[in-house]
Amino acid sequence: MTAGIEVRGLTKRHPGARPDRPALQDIDLEIPHRRFVSLIGPSGCGKSTLLRILAGLEGHDTGSVSLLGESPRRASRRKAIGLVSQTPALLPWLTVRANVALPGKVNRRSGKEVDPPDELLRAVGLEDAADQYPHQLSGGMLQRVAVARAFALRPDVLLMDEPFSALDEFTREALQYQLLGLWQRRATTVVFVTHSVREAVVLSDEIVVMSARPGRVHEVLDVDLPRPRDKDIVKGPHMHDLEDRVRASLQRAWKAGAAPDDLVPL
Ligand SMILES: Nc1ncnc2c1ncn2[C@@H]1O[C@H](COP(=O)(O)OP(=O)(O)OP(=O)(O)O)[C@@H](O)[C@H]1O
Ligand SMILES: [Mg+2]
Repeated sequence: MTAGIEVRGLTKRHPGARPDRPALQDIDLEIPHRRFVSLIGPSGCGKSTLLRILAGLEGHDTGSVSLLGESPRRASRRKAIGLVSQTPALLPWLTVRANVALPGKVNRRSGKEVDPPDELLRAVGLEDAADQYPHQLSGGMLQRVAVARAFALRPDVLLMDEPFSALDEFTREALQYQLLGLWQRRATTVVFVTHSVREAVVLSDEIVVMSARPGRVHEVLDVDLPRPRDKDIVKGPHMHDLEDRVRASLQRAWKAGAAPDDLVPL
């Protein structure tokens, strides 16, 4: 199988953090190309930090990281990585359409094929908002624009940090199916951060359960549901078994991590 993402013995300490409390410690991950992998774990366990390192936005202290056989910075320079960050960063002075078209414009000379912005906006149900500005949109609409923009350059690796967290249940479900459709058509590797056990099971081939303080990989669970994940499959009994397994693993991970200092009884 083609090398996708390889993380070996990665440790990351944020500047100013306690020396005994690295954000990430001894992370080993191997994600073959074209896999759909979710990261789930308690708040503060380092999911966003790991995603930013994979995106080439942050360095790390020890260990090694490679995407498609190259460093994250290099993969990022040749526009192989799409990132949807936890808080959507759109340019406020551009319309929704212009925000989605921007990666294609900026990278015109890279020769990469880009998707027309209107088509991407239709895929996330925002065709009517194309001429509006970010300040006129709701939080969930902003998230959907960010998802459309990340798809624009047809990245080989798509990193998504809780991209659907602000959406109502039905929009969220619709977008999960859109994402699976795009993932299958485009042969992309997806690393998807979520707090929703159900969302992780519906979408993923594998679920990486993390524990906190320091952030570590607690367990990697296989999701052996057939694809495409149609409605019958996600309503079936095996789906529930898998959800229970992930919940149990999360509970063990929660106990394994030291209790957060900021969670004291009122
Ligand atoms: N820029 C930074 N400087 C210092 N510490 C940071 C920085 N970014 C994150 N941290 C710390 O690193 C740890 C991991 O943060 P991170 O944002 O990666 O967690 P997370 O798993 O994404 O949490 P959540 O589920 O709440 O989004 C936290 O303890 C956080 O306080
Ligand atoms: Mg986060």
